[in-house]
Amino acid sequence: MAETHGRGPSLRDLLREGTVLLREAGIEDAAQDAALLLGFATERNRLDLLTRADECPSAEAIGRYRSLLSRRCRREPLSHLIGRRGFWKLEFAVSRDVLDPRPDTETLIEAALEIVPPPERILDLGTGSGCLLLSLLDEFPASFGIGVDISRKALAVAQDNAGALGLAARAAFVCGDWFGAVAGRFNLIVTNPPYIREDEAPLLPPELRDHEPPEALFGGPDGLDAYRSILAGAPAHLASGGTLLMEIGAGQAEDVMALARAAGFASLARRRDLDGRDRCIIARLT
Ligand SMILES: C[S@@+](CC[C@H](N)C(=O)[O-])C[C@H]1O[C@@H](n2cnc3c(N)ncnc32)[C@H](O)[C@@H]1O
Repeated sequence: MAETHGRGPSLRDLLREGTVLLREAGIEDAAQDAALLLGFATERNRLDLLTRADECPSAEAIGRYRSLLSRRCRREPLSHLIGRRGFWKLEFAVSRDVLDPRPDTETLIEAALEIVPPPERILDLGTGSGCLLLSLLDEFPASFGIGVDISRKALAVAQDNAGALGLAARAAFVCGDWFGAVAGRFNLIVTNPPYIREDEAPLLPPELRDHEPPEALFGGPDGLDAYRSILAGAPAHLASGGTLLMEIGAGQAEDVMALARAAGFASLARRRDLDGRDRCIIARLT
């Protein structure tokens, strides 16, 4: 593919066309998204788009690009269109069956890296693409981990990512309702559960509301249902001295810490994301 044809619009023309189209559709990072879609459709990297801007791609590649542009205008997430997302230090395959991994969630990895000694057994509740568990296994080469999800389709994506990243020998994936199918104790439990309040659905960006799996988003009427279930089960699944790391949404720190206290967690701390918002609760029983 990536043939060069003498006629038709050049890469530069196509980039401009896409940027205008996406901007008119209200996409915030229009130029960046257009470049990523053009690169994907024409199999060109970012540098090629700059240094070979006069090249005219094949009609087939242009067709692919325009079809991706119209899907992006309908607010399909960019990662679903190109099927990939970078998270922490790795690249993950993503699809409509998993939450698109967010940079905010990397706050949990930062918190986990401060745990001494490195956690041997890790449990990731609501693993989705596997981005948290697999990033942690990559960082902790002697660790073993289990990823749990209620969605079998999500687990298939996580399992494929484990294989592609060479981590399958140290990762297992289990279908279940939080701790329902999990036995044993763990040195580290991580979770990025669904935490959006149901009544917030109309306010969400279309990328999220219309294209992400609902079971990955909504945490009941007050957004806290998943925390209640996870905190009820966590003490019986933490090894002595173990740590529970929970991602939280905006304004949820006090409520989640109160739930954690009531569940027996005596040591609680919070960690901020790059925007300065409380993003992660670090909970220990003693
Ligand atoms: C917010 S997404 C997080 C995905 C991934 N860990 C990440 O950070 O990108 C929440 C995940 O929890 C899963 N989930 C929702 N309810 C669940 C339940 N009762 N038991 C297990 N997993 C659940 C969803 O399917 C979804 O994959």
